[in-house]
Amino acid sequence: MSRQITDRFGRTFDYLRIAVTERCNLRCVYCMPEEGVAFQDASQLLSADEILRVVHVAAGLGVTKFRYTGGEPLVRKELLPIIAGTRATPGVQNIHLTTNGILFSEAADALRDAGLDGVNFSLDSMRPERFLQMTRRTGADKVLASIRQAVALGFPSVKVNLVAMRGFNDDEIPDFAALTRELPITVRFIELMPFDEQQVWKRGNFLGVDRIVAALRTAEPTIEPSAGSSTEEHVFQVPGHAGKLAVIPAFTRSLCGSCDRVRLTADGQIRNCLYSDREFDLRAALRRDASDDELADILCNAMAQKLVDGWAAQREAESAGRQRTSMTQIGG
Ligand code: GTP
Ligand code: 5AD
Ligand code: SF4
Repeated sequence: MSRQITDRFGRTFDYLRIAVTERCNLRCVYCMPEEGVAFQDASQLLSADEILRVVHVAAGLGVTKFRYTGGEPLVRKELLPIIAGTRATPGVQNIHLTTNGILFSEAADALRDAGLDGVNFSLDSMRPERFLQMTRRTGADKVLASIRQAVALGFPSVKVNLVAMRGFNDDEIPDFAALTRELPITVRFIELMPFDEQQVWKRGNFLGVDRIVAALRTAEPTIEPSAGSSTEEHVFQVPGHAGKLAVIPAFTRSLCGSCDRVRLTADGQIRNCLYSDREFDLRAALRRDASDDELADILCNAMAQKLVDGWAAQREAESAGRQRTSMTQIGG
């Protein structure tokens, strides 16, 4: 490997998360207000060709894993050609998608054919009335059907993300754990993060890693430790179950020491941490016809300036005054 993306703390970055849109067909209360946020004009967003140029440069720097996020990535018309183009890029190993699953069923076969390896579905409740309360739209059954369809189509990795919230869905932890009995999926419980303008997270719904783990042990007393991905802190498997359970310390930030990811917002800004507000403008460089080497320098420079962890990044962002007010503008 020639040049790689590294930082001052000995971390190497081989995973790029690319947001392809800010728009979404749901309105999760912890993410966006009902009326949405001020979505940018399409001309502000990276084009499919610009995204693929970044993929090419990143792959040349040793990035092997790519994840498409949003907003809801399936509302972006060019998602399929973007995935196919990523698959055709030398050096790319894994291509994943994080979706709310509403539009998945129509696109599923084509996504598999285009070379997608993995799908993470967001589903905070399996109960239709709660799903409606959380997302302000209907669709719990549709998402569950999409999850089953992804498994049936043989995607190598299928996961379910749910934001665990006290008094909202903590009573569904046993039901979600039970999904892993027959389905070869990882069900992941995520801590609520403080990113929305309305600060829903301050309303006492926060459920930390330790409490989530305790609830899992109560629901499934026989769970045993297992192995998972770089965002999963505690990973378990119930003996005999097809799938796994995991907890993501999104707020606690206990895995920053092994952070391996770079973020690209839909409008072409590199962010070196989910909690950071500093942006490195790849779009401007792309639009002034910068060379591959110049783009690589911007990527490497952005990550070289990464702070030690998400706490330091949050302190810096808050002292400067946050720029973006919804997860949908950050890219998850
Ligand atoms: P895998 O590659 O399957 O592990 O997926 P992922 O967790 O990297 O991606 P996904 O889009 O499914 O993200 C799930 C959740 O992980 C996000 O909603 C965040 O809560 C959390 N997460 C992702 N990246 C970071 C990060 O850099 N820091 C922290 N603290 N949380 C993160
Ligand atoms: N806290 C935790 N997770 C969040 N997500 C979006 N906003 C938040 C938040 N404030 C999650 C979605 C999805 C993932 C990509 O990000 O539920 O599972
Ligand atoms: Fe859309 Fe994701 Fe925000 Fe929900 S969390 S409104 S699915 S962008």
